[in-house]
Amino acid sequence: MPWFLPGGPPSAGVLVVLAVALVLAAAAQDGRTAERAPFDAEGDVERGRAVVVGVYAGATPHGERGVGPAGGACFSCHGLNGKGDAAAVVPRLAGQAPAYLYKALKDYAAGARQNAVMTPIAQALTEREMRDVAVYYAAQTGAPYDDPPEVDLELLQHGAMLAAIGSTERGIQGCVNCHGPDGSGIFPSYPSLAGQSASYSEAQLRAWQRGHRKGDPLAVMEMIARRMTDEDVRAVAAFYASIRPRSAEAQTAPGRTSVDALPPAFAPDPASIGRR
Ligand code: HEC
Ligand code: HEC
Repeated sequence: MPWFLPGGPPSAGVLVVLAVALVLAAAAQDGRTAERAPFDAEGDVERGRAVVVGVYAGATPHGERGVGPAGGACFSCHGLNGKGDAAAVVPRLAGQAPAYLYKALKDYAAGARQNAVMTPIAQALTEREMRDVAVYYAAQTGAPYDDPPEVDLELLQHGAMLAAIGSTERGIQGCVNCHGPDGSGIFPSYPSLAGQSASYSEAQLRAWQRGHRKGDPLAVMEMIARRMTDEDVRAVAAFYASIRPRSAEAQTAPGRTSVDALPPAFAPDPASIGRR
């Protein structure tokens, strides 16, 4: 018996569990590093900026698909800094992981995500432009946040519970498992939700419920969304619109408090992240 295993040799069952955990942990690690390295190397912030102001192949007045810069320049809706526009249900892109942004554009172009505005725009972008623009918006980490919306406290509490521990009753796991304890996402493919507008997050959860959004790995979000009630959707979207990632704390204006990110008691053990 190895000296480092106190209490006698472990049973076969324990060994199997240990082995599975190790394999899963290793797979999660591999997935993350494998995706990151090649992606970061391929995008260019400066070329991305040109796309954002409307200089891209499909956006010229004679563009193949006729998406003119006036309608297609990303900045006119998402802003130069990627802040988005909550009132118009235009998402914040600033600081989002580049691999996630790139995948979103691919999904629109392929029809996995159906949206009257974004589908033709994504289809007008070349592969390189998608990568460049993803890297550009990912780099806009300093973009300010809107003031947190005024929300009914009970709704907010319900949203916080869903985010932290999910619902055993409806078989929903806590969002923190994949979107991180402060909602800032887990690199590279779990997007940040913290500070995203409630209107946009709600629209996405409803799109999954209705089958208008596909392409999430193993349909994990579709399954979660379909188990959510209308109140769940409103509550969790309002909760995420009210919190800010920890990295943004310094931006909170004096005299104004945003809702705290989840208390430490809810934060998952870092070792368990990615092992779902
Ligand atoms: C006319 C307004 C408009 C323009 C111009 C526009 N977008 Fe969008 N964008 C939207 C809206 C609205 C959505 C949300 C669509 C949905 O509900 O799926 C969106 C969604 C996105 C998303 C998905 C974000 C996420 O969190 O999943 C990405 C990425 C994106 N846009 C990138 C771009 C890029 C790059 C450009 C320029 C080449 C661009 N957009 C131009 C309005 C616009
Ligand atoms: C098992 C992992 C997992 C869990 C748990 C999870 N998510 Fe997600 N979520 C994802 C992934 C992966 C994506 C990106 C999907 C894609 O690329 O299309 C995502 C995307 C989203 C988006 C879209 C973000 C955007 O910018 O368009 C929203 C909103 C969202 N999740 C909300 C939630 C909420 C609310 C919960 C908890 C009730 C939750 N998620 C739990 C994995 C998860």
